[in-house]
Amino acid sequence: MDTYIPVAFDAGSRSIRFGFCYDRTPSSDIPAVLGDMLDGKESVVHTNRIGENSTYKVDTNTLCVPREGMELINIMDKGLIQDWDAFENLMEYAYSSCLFTDPKLHPIIFTESPMNTDKNRERLMELLFEKFNVPAMMLCKNSAAAAFSCGLQTGIVVDSGATHTTAVPVYEGNVITGAIVSSPMGGDFILNKCEQYLSENNIDVIPHYLIAKKQPVNAKEIPIWSRKNTVPNVTNSWHNYMCKSVVEDFKHTVLEVADRDAILSNLPTCHYEFPNGYNQEFGSERFKIPEFLFNPNESGDLTSLSEIVHLCAEMCSNSIIDELYANIIVTGGNSLIKGFPRRLHLEIAANYKNISRVKLTAPIDSSIRRFGAWIGGALLATTAKLNHLWFSSNDYHENGANEISLYLTH
Ligand SMILES: Nc1ncnc2c1ncn2[C@@H]1O[C@H](COP(=O)(O)OP(=O)(O)OP(=O)(O)O)[C@@H](O)[C@H]1O
Ligand SMILES: [Mg+2]
Repeated sequence: MDTYIPVAFDAGSRSIRFGFCYDRTPSSDIPAVLGDMLDGKESVVHTNRIGENSTYKVDTNTLCVPREGMELINIMDKGLIQDWDAFENLMEYAYSSCLFTDPKLHPIIFTESPMNTDKNRERLMELLFEKFNVPAMMLCKNSAAAAFSCGLQTGIVVDSGATHTTAVPVYEGNVITGAIVSSPMGGDFILNKCEQYLSENNIDVIPHYLIAKKQPVNAKEIPIWSRKNTVPNVTNSWHNYMCKSVVEDFKHTVLEVADRDAILSNLPTCHYEFPNGYNQEFGSERFKIPEFLFNPNESGDLTSLSEIVHLCAEMCSNSIIDELYANIIVTGGNSLIKGFPRRLHLEIAANYKNISRVKLTAPIDSSIRRFGAWIGGALLATTAKLNHLWFSSNDYHENGANEISLYLTH
């Protein structure tokens, strides 16, 4: 194990991150969707591996090419692997076209969602030891890894990803599973709100692949653009994915979380131009959309993000509550909306006044914030004193996935 550099994989619903553990951040971050070239109307049996004859298309550059009949399939569902065949193909691609190495040579650390099931974990072990012949593997909970990346082993990890935001208590490196609180308000939720806003305001979302030419126009004027006439007959799933990328760029560029009690109309505006040339200044709406995360009143049964942190802490033992509030760790791509960590801090401090001290850690470097779980996993894998957490291929073949999984969960 000392001879070869371990590789780390952190699989999320939006993207899958991986790379060699001695790097500072993952070397690859590829979408957690694959293009499936359906043969006519029938789905082909996926025995092919990624390569010339593969029916799967992987990675941003390949996925962005319009192809007739290419359906997109999601590999993950709420942080758990759901399409194992697609996932296996993605792993092949990762080793052969990104890491350029043989999986047999490298121990592997995999981060897992705190909601992972025994069945999923066993299936992953089978895949890694039997198909990829990895020499050894380690599993770690993504929240514990994110805390570790900030040098902490105890705290509440607030992970705002694509499909959900979770508050996960971690104590001395272990997740307290009974006190995890999850909210569906993650990046996709905000993306839907952006789509709703754009459609209500008659702002068309035209993806780049449809645009042949455009002319500069003044703010709020009707865009002048012409449509490409050589586009193949693409599927709805692919077209929607391309539209989603446009709205995602709008979301990343324009949205900002305001401070508590800020007067939204007094806050700075942001100019944005869509791919078809339509452009305007966005004012209070750019603050109103992410406001749902902290003030979801209108959405009925949703719980604000400060409340999920509070609920999570309340479910933990009284003896550690102060320590948890003093170590809140913010991670995940959706927390990159400008102002998110500050507002979360202000909300918790203002709403729960009996807490002696609220301290929040949110790495300022956006790649460190987004890839916290990968970075922590890579650190764990290279920490010599944690060598006992590795399972070798011999352990697997002697004891089986079931035994190892039981050991890991207890
Ligand atoms: N700069 C940014 N500003 C705002 N949001 C961002 C930014 N960068 C990424 N995001 C959002 O972060 C989300 C993806 O976050 P992340 O990579 O943590 O999710 P994931 O781990 O793949 O998914 P999940 O945790 O739901 O399984 C997307 O919704 C994306 O729009
Ligand atoms: Mg995630």
